[in-house]
Amino acid sequence: MPHLNRRQFLTLSAGAAGTVLLPRCAGNQAATLASPNVITSQAGLLNVSLMARQDRYRIGGQEGQVMSYNGQIPGTRLEARPGDTVKIRFENQLPQATNLHYHGLHIPSTGNADNIFLSIPSNETLDYEFTISNNHPAGTFYYHPHLHGTVAEQIFAGLGGIFVVRGSLDEIPEIQAAQEEFLFLKDFSLDANGQIPTPGHMELMQGREGATLTVNGQINPSFSIPTGGLLRLRIVNASAARFYRLSLEDHPLYLIATDGGAITEPVELQELLLSPGERAEVLVKGDREPKQYRLLNLPYNRSGMGMMGEIGNMGSMGMMHSMNGMGRMGNASVTQSPQLLATLVYQDEVSPIPLPKQLIPVEALPEPTNTRRIELSMAMGTSGMGAGMSMGSGMGMQFLFNGKTFDMNRVDAAVKLGTVEDWELVNSDPDRMDHPFHLHVNSFQIISRNGQPDPYPAWKDTLIVRGNETVRIRIPFQDFAGRTVYHCHILDHEDLGMMGLVEMS
Ligand code: C2O
Ligand code: CU
Ligand code: CU
Repeated sequence: MPHLNRRQFLTLSAGAAGTVLLPRCAGNQAATLASPNVITSQAGLLNVSLMARQDRYRIGGQEGQVMSYNGQIPGTRLEARPGDTVKIRFENQLPQATNLHYHGLHIPSTGNADNIFLSIPSNETLDYEFTISNNHPAGTFYYHPHLHGTVAEQIFAGLGGIFVVRGSLDEIPEIQAAQEEFLFLKDFSLDANGQIPTPGHMELMQGREGATLTVNGQINPSFSIPTGGLLRLRIVNASAARFYRLSLEDHPLYLIATDGGAITEPVELQELLLSPGERAEVLVKGDREPKQYRLLNLPYNRSGMGMMGEIGNMGSMGMMHSMNGMGRMGNASVTQSPQLLATLVYQDEVSPIPLPKQLIPVEALPEPTNTRRIELSMAMGTSGMGAGMSMGSGMGMQFLFNGKTFDMNRVDAAVKLGTVEDWELVNSDPDRMDHPFHLHVNSFQIISRNGQPDPYPAWKDTLIVRGNETVRIRIPFQDFAGRTVYHCHILDHEDLGMMGLVEMS
């Protein structure tokens, strides 16, 4: 295959699914595609420029002011292999400070690598550089901004992109033969002026959601499957707070990878629930009648209580919200009917490809040398809860780990490198809201939920902890010394204090 130059590549990729945000009409202030859609490492080096910027783009039928990397939603897809060096020249053209986080990658959290304590002021540039270790798992990862206090706003505005590590999972013959698509799930909200509305109290409490659901920045894009073939979907929940309960009409989903890479063998699912930050890879079999099928987002109530159950069931906290006119009746996150996300179209035919039988074994972890308990909760009011929120943005709402809001000068968990720990995550939120718990740098395995063993071993970095639930996870702390964080991936909760600091030494 001839080597393509940048311009040729741009032309080719312009028709591919995932290239979005290009105004459909020739336009006045029309934003243009600034760079190719995918950058792949060459000879061991992934070299890329990323520019965060604010611009007017077309989302569905409406033009709005959103934020993007390189003028694309999702941002330029980065693809590397184990052993590669990654160099990212990052330019901040936003009117506010930002930074980059490489969600799920096992790389250092220090220096100019996955260091979320860096802050890049408006109009400044920073060179990120790190190496993907030779034994790094293949998988679907996710880069996004991570400057505490602005994360929800910037992600909700559109910032985010996919980081792929290709490796042994991709070399399994059936997977190699599968057609590959990426689904970057992102909701948007634009007012009549094309501005993203300022979230109210309710949106902050629930986490902000938009009513416009996009896949790769598009409304209801189509993707195709050949009769007899396999389709591999790499799915990223890149929304600030929305959960997706995915179901593909008439087609089971065969799970092959979770956040941290491959599972041991495919697992058949009728639906797939992804909280913000979670990823999954599934295979779809092209063995149905060749017509169109809808990829749906099914209703899911992440506040733990039924809309009506609320009245009879209200705890003191619920009562308080209710008195302030913040009851659950207006819960934006609960819709009653399935929402259309994308359309699967049968196209062409190939000689049948079977599902792979074996993937990559998920090794069992040794018994932990230490166990910690982390309680997830929230509180209302302004009574001296420490350095957290003043009246103002959060209006006294605090989201807490072990009763504390985030303090970047306080180490909450000091762990020894080379050891395995069990963390018991206890959701005691009085509202019984689900909280997706996420840890940087080291992936973990879920041992049990409310004492029940998890059905199959998998590498995770983000997991849902439901209201009243206790989840035990097992974490190997390996390779990289330094400080990083764990937090709720409902990013308003993170910005409102639901984050802790872990120091590995
Ligand atoms: Cu996806 Cu700390 O984040
Ligand atoms: Cu992360
Ligand atoms: Cu939360």
